[in-house]
Amino acid sequence: KKGNYEHYMQKEIHEQPESLRTTMRGRLICGDSSKAKSVLLGGLKDHLRTIRRSRRIVFIGCGTSYNAALAARPFLEELSGVPVTMELASDLLDRQGPIYREDTAVFVSQSGETADTLLALQYATENGALCVGITNTVGSAIARNTHCGVHINAGCEIGVASTKAYTSQIAVMAMMALAIGDDTTSSQARREAVIDGLFDLPNKVREALKLDNEMKDLAKLLMDEQSLLMFGRGYNYATALEGALKVKEVALMHSEGILAGEMKHGPLALVDETLPIIVIATHDTCFSKQQSVIQQLHARKGRLIVMCSKGAAQLVGPSGSCRVIEVPQVEDCLQPVINIVPLQLLAYHLTVLRGYNVDQPRNLAKSVTTQ
Ligand code: UD1
Ligand code: BG6
Repeated sequence: KKGNYEHYMQKEIHEQPESLRTTMRGRLICGDSSKAKSVLLGGLKDHLRTIRRSRRIVFIGCGTSYNAALAARPFLEELSGVPVTMELASDLLDRQGPIYREDTAVFVSQSGETADTLLALQYATENGALCVGITNTVGSAIARNTHCGVHINAGCEIGVASTKAYTSQIAVMAMMALAIGDDTTSSQARREAVIDGLFDLPNKVREALKLDNEMKDLAKLLMDEQSLLMFGRGYNYATALEGALKVKEVALMHSEGILAGEMKHGPLALVDETLPIIVIATHDTCFSKQQSVIQQLHARKGRLIVMCSKGAAQLVGPSGSCRVIEVPQVEDCLQPVINIVPLQLLAYHLTVLRGYNVDQPRNLAKSVTTQ
């Protein structure tokens, strides 16, 4: 079943061009001279009006699924014009946070069975919100108990660390944003550009997978480290959180994803010549702010590894001043799908080199069905 691969996680990372294609199959409409390009999500089409009219869209999930929603949040805010908030399921339950009838609550869960997410669904249902599911598992508790939703169709994921489900979740939430924004003519050009970007995304992911050897070399360099930081912002704040989550859950190395905008409020104190820091600085509207973050880290002799858009290495620092990972550039809101790929590969190679169990990390379970 693993084919030519040694581990399921490795297989699942490398099958992302195909899993993304399956996720989008039948859902992207090409358009022609008489019809605009659009998306069709069969499970949402009868609920779009209600979602557009809701007072707030609140994403609820755990772990990687939460990170996927965080990656999709800026684009959903942009296209829906509705405030979008984020909840870790356990925290929502701990606080018994407010959920209203006028809310759309979106439950994101690969397995569709995570206990905290399910309990949060029960809570939101009782509070009268419209409950939308985004899951990879047809017939799962979340698929059955939500009012409507979208199956991500990424195919069965076996590795405990989620990889292909993450990228497919982001693709589905981008399509959801496109469907919600479909009634707004002012965003049509933007929507068409993103739809074109989605069509081409599997090819770009295939290109990013060519970084495999480079990431293996980087893993050799980092394998004995105690700790690894990842700085991101904007669309790629989620990439920093998810990259760090991959490294800690499988490579059993301390790793922290940090919002770059918070750098001066604490994390800067950690910077020295030894602690490796990955800075995600691909091209988008936050790029100049990330350039200044890089300068400030350089000034403190930080040990930087910078992820930038292909051909932009000279824009992130004088040549030779830091290690650079160049990734293919896509539409800004889809860039998290590309940027996570080298970090998944890095986490994978670190795990193998450090001699840990890739597919079943210590103390973790694929689906956490108890609180
Ligand atoms: C559906 C079919 C698909 C078929 C396609 C053809 C299923 C599972 N899917 O896909 O096989 O090729 O039509 O038009 O039969 N739902 C929830 N909560 C969730 C996820 C989904 O309530 O968390 C509901 C949706 O609202 C929808 C149904 O489940 O009513 C199927 O969802 P989805 O598979 O995403 O719909 P389609 O893409 O239209
Ligand atoms: C577990 C898994 O902790 O549950 C993670 O090990 C996953 O990979 C998390 O992100 C949430 O799972 P789900 O199925 O609700 O997306």
